Amino acid sequence: MTQQRKSVHGSWSNRLAFVLAATGSAVGLGNIWKFPYIAGENGGGAFVLVYLVCIGLIGIPIMMAEVMLGRRGRQSPINTMRTLAAEANAHPAWRWLGWAGVIAGFLILSYYSVIAGWALAYVFRSMAGVFDGATADGVGSIFTQLTEDPERLLAWHTIFMVMTMVVVARGVKSGLEQAVRFLVPALFVLLIMLDGYAMASGAFQQGLDFLFTPDFSKITANGVLIAMGHSFFTLSLGMGAIMVYGSYLPDRTSVARTSIIIALLDTLVALLAGMAIFPLVFSNGLEPGSGPGLIFQTLPIAFGHMTGGDLFGTLFFVLLVFAAWTSAISLIEPAVAWLVENKGMTRVHASVYAGAATWGMGLVTILSFSHWSDFHPLSFISIFEKYTVFDLLDYLTANIMLPLGGLAIAIFSAWVMRRQDSVQELDMGDGPAYRLWHFLVCYVTPVAVVVVFLNVTGIVEF
Ligand code: TRP
Repeated sequence: MTQQRKSVHGSWSNRLAFVLAATGSAVGLGNIWKFPYIAGENGGGAFVLVYLVCIGLIGIPIMMAEVMLGRRGRQSPINTMRTLAAEANAHPAWRWLGWAGVIAGFLILSYYSVIAGWALAYVFRSMAGVFDGATADGVGSIFTQLTEDPERLLAWHTIFMVMTMVVVARGVKSGLEQAVRFLVPALFVLLIMLDGYAMASGAFQQGLDFLFTPDFSKITANGVLIAMGHSFFTLSLGMGAIMVYGSYLPDRTSVARTSIIIALLDTLVALLAGMAIFPLVFSNGLEPGSGPGLIFQTLPIAFGHMTGGDLFGTLFFVLLVFAAWTSAISLIEPAVAWLVENKGMTRVHASVYAGAATWGMGLVTILSFSHWSDFHPLSFISIFEKYTVFDLLDYLTANIMLPLGGLAIAIFSAWVMRRQDSVQELDMGDGPAYRLWHFLVCYVTPVAVVVVFLNVTGIVEF
């Protein structure tokens, strides 16, 4: 542990606060919105298996590495990387890792906020009883009415960005810690209830089979990359979000145990969401591969038919908004921390600048669902044939930038940082646990990322 450095932004009140904040960052739209639809698009079981393996072998070790680097550097990821590179006598260019993270966070938040806007819109639709007795067709048209209307999307996106910037301006500690404390348990309870409903829906077994019976003929090289990219996305890794949260972490905390808890909670939420959604997909004759609208076109059917569905639906979408909110904050925190450290801004100013830029970038995503819905800029590359600008933005960030960020973090922690420093900072001795971690970040992550990339480009095939 380094007693000499202190974060200028303050620190978490205790370990629980960090666990809650990091869990809040990890659990978000990625688990409930994205995981089911990408699992559906990529054939189910085999995809889920690859994703789980990536969480265990890459996600948890990289999360430990990020927390460790953040806590040792105690600054925004850009300055943390600069400080730690100097400490290890490495090239100052390592600070570019921090920059890449800021850019990735900015791009991700720009579309994340638009999707969170859908969830906000659905809070009010559920409340108004719009889904009562709804059929799959009815729910489908409610969804397209929303997404094909750029003005409405803009309004919800604006509201969500303002909500995010208000919390960020006040600092991560006040507000955020409190919100997550009740959010995560409540989300669990609601998801379990939805699973109960799905169990009674008649197609529960079919849903489970789809999710948990791997059929490797259904997964492509690109599917493997998407599963790996998602393991970074869902744990908020590869861009400095967990690093910056780690920089506010009190000294004596078990990094390993904390990371494992966070990863388990996150995975559980994703699996519970998948188990609620796929039975409904099958019992209503919907397509598992129907894309980003999947949860918005399935769950409302359940809410429309259960007793008290308006109330549960409202509650569910409120929780989804909260989950997205606590994640969004972490996407912008590295940029805000940097503006405060290097540009001498107050948190309020920094939040306004960073938020306004992200808001503007969000227009690209909004248009992707309406005026640009037939615009496929990279259609000459076969895997991107049907990709809209939003799809490409998501692909670039989640499947390229985050794994590359993770690769760089792995190389830095295992190959550049002095071993004695990582031993000291991880604080679990030099025994088998440390060696396992070191082996995973030293070899497994780099090799996995490189092989998966090469495999997608067709240079190597396995
Ligand atoms: N993990 C969040 C989710 O699953 C999204 C997120 C928050 C994120 N912070 C991040 C993704 C940092 C990548 C990097 O919804």
